[in-house]
Amino acid sequence: MEVTFGAGLSRTLITGTRLGLFEALKDGDADADELAARMGCSKLGTEVLANALAGARTIKRRKGRYSLTKAARKFLLRDAPQSMVPGVEFLAYCQTLLVDMEEAIRTGEVVRFHDMDHPPELWASYMGALSTFAKLFGSQIVKKIKPTSAPKRVLDVGGGHGQFCVALCNKYPDLQAEVLDLPGACVAGRAMVADVGMRERVVHRAGDFRTDEWGTGNELVLIFHVMHNATEAEAKLLVDRAFAALNPGGTVVIYDASHSAADSAIDFSSGWNELFFFMISGAQAWPESTMRGWMKEAGFVRLTTKELLGAPEVVITGVKAG
Ligand SMILES: C[S@@+](CC[C@H](N)C(=O)[O-])C[C@H]1O[C@@H](n2cnc3c(N)ncnc32)[C@H](O)[C@@H]1O
Repeated sequence: MEVTFGAGLSRTLITGTRLGLFEALKDGDADADELAARMGCSKLGTEVLANALAGARTIKRRKGRYSLTKAARKFLLRDAPQSMVPGVEFLAYCQTLLVDMEEAIRTGEVVRFHDMDHPPELWASYMGALSTFAKLFGSQIVKKIKPTSAPKRVLDVGGGHGQFCVALCNKYPDLQAEVLDLPGACVAGRAMVADVGMRERVVHRAGDFRTDEWGTGNELVLIFHVMHNATEAEAKLLVDRAFAALNPGGTVVIYDASHSAADSAIDFSSGWNELFFFMISGAQAWPESTMRGWMKEAGFVRLTTKELLGAPEVVITGVKAG
């Protein structure tokens, strides 16, 4: 049952999104004929797709007419404030990287998403998906960051969409932010920062955090959702380079999924995330204690860990003494 319905649900949601079924119901309900005409699709095809989505409770079907549920209106319309459409598009693309899972597990060899070339639309949907979460959790995160004094410079490593820097700039009026990310992410991120009128204060620099200079003189370094895509050597390098990029008294903030301890119960979302990160980047989420160990080795002191409301993630901060 799970083999057929698990894959079926994912494929149905992707198809509904890609073919614009939700957008076609935005301004009013429709029967299968009207819906097919709005979508420019065949009547029978539209009807079976709409029925599958109605069965999944993603849309409603009443007396032969289809309409959006509250959840579809909130998450599956492109212009909704909490739109997950970029996320659906990004995850649909990622499915192409999951096809030969057996071979990857057998050999341990995987493609690494961030080392591949991708078209600009893909970067836009990747960054768009993450910015939805950044906007949802941004204010919570900003409250949990307690720098030793009001920061003037922040470096956001792998900061992509730039929305965490935007949230920090809104809190600290003298803050200037730099996002260091891969070229495709910078193109998408610059547009998103411009959209909220922060182009002057949040500047993107294209580079590879493994090999390019990070610079110095920062009071804050953010490493958000980067560790889970990093191998152990890369993760340690990230922490060491953060230390070098900070002024004495500066704060590093690591925000990421934390790997559950090996002997505790694991749910499917954690297990699937682990397998998914392995498939797209050959990496995994790290246990909180491991990340703290690397931070101590790098020289950070006053480590604190905070949990988020509504997300299975941790925020670990450390200070460069001095
Ligand atoms: C999962 S996203 C996290 C984005 C953002 N920090 C957030 O928390 O929403 C990982 C980011 O790391 C960037 N990244 C991955 N490998 C990188 C590398 N070698 N150099 C620079 N950036 C990299 C990606 O382009 C992407 O923007």
